Amino acid sequence: MLSFAWDGITSFSVKPLRAVTVTGAAIACVSFAAIIVLFILMLCGIKISGWTAASVWLACGILMLSTGLVGEYVGKIYSEVKSRPRFFIETVLESASISADTADNDIIRAILSRRSVRKYTSDPVGHELLAKIVECGKFAATAKGIQPWFFSVVESRRILDAISEANRMVMLDSSDENMRKRASEPNFDSFRGAPCAIIVSGMKDNSYSEADCANACENMLIAAESIGLSTCYIASFKTAFESEAGASITKLLKIPDGYSPRFAVAVGYGCENLGERAPRRENITEYIK
Ligand SMILES: Cc1cc2nc3c(=O)[nH]c(=O)nc-3n(C[C@H](O)[C@H](O)[C@H](O)COP(=O)(O)O)c2cc1C
Repeated sequence: MLSFAWDGITSFSVKPLRAVTVTGAAIACVSFAAIIVLFILMLCGIKISGWTAASVWLACGILMLSTGLVGEYVGKIYSEVKSRPRFFIETVLESASISADTADNDIIRAILSRRSVRKYTSDPVGHELLAKIVECGKFAATAKGIQPWFFSVVESRRILDAISEANRMVMLDSSDENMRKRASEPNFDSFRGAPCAIIVSGMKDNSYSEADCANACENMLIAAESIGLSTCYIASFKTAFESEAGASITKLLKIPDGYSPRFAVAVGYGCENLGERAPRRENITEYIK
């Protein structure tokens, strides 16, 4: 039992070695101090015995200290040789282990499983579901609670085609080669083939309306995902409003004066074969306590 206890101490701790070092240092210090006192007394003409004892204690102290120091080095070698890990990771904060498959919460599952979908069936979404999605958009946070937005829910593919065509014309005229290339694609469609889209316009004279409209869109993406619909966030349709047809499209979408289109959410039943999801960027979070 005693040897087991001793094994326990010596396998996991270098404290006995530390005790030898500290005791040796203490004895050496005390006996050195005693020798100094004896020396001062001798200078003062006071004769006192104890030189031998003090010298022996000093020698013992120095010996113990030296042995302890050697032991400390041996102890360090011993712990390296054992190859025990220096620390254990208790929690990995970056890339927390949540995924859509393991999420225990419907909202988190919807956030994690949402993807931008760019191919849809022609099945209509239905007014009721669209209204539900828009309602969720309206509950997004807005700066100063102003709610500086207007929602045009377009269920007509004919109107979406008109916007897309106007957009295509502007893009074909662009100085950006990529834009011209995209506009020349045979199946070009700003709304990615979705049967409907919710166009969110923001107050022109509100500096936060862009952010507020973006918040509404994100809410709508998550809401749609949670009820089994696919979506795509769209900003590239906006150049349509710079075209000659811009004014009539604004009228068609019933966008009030003082508002301009900011983003759209294409909604429908997706039929795209989605590939592997892009990994999330790492080392972009600091937890400050
Ligand atoms: C402000 C904004 C504008 C976007 N505009 C478009 C767009 O015009 N067309 C498009 O196909 N996707 C658009 N997207 C979707 C992004 O391309 C997409 O979110 C990104 O590639 C990440 O893919 P994920 O949504 O599947 O995670 C937009 C996204 C945001 C946030």
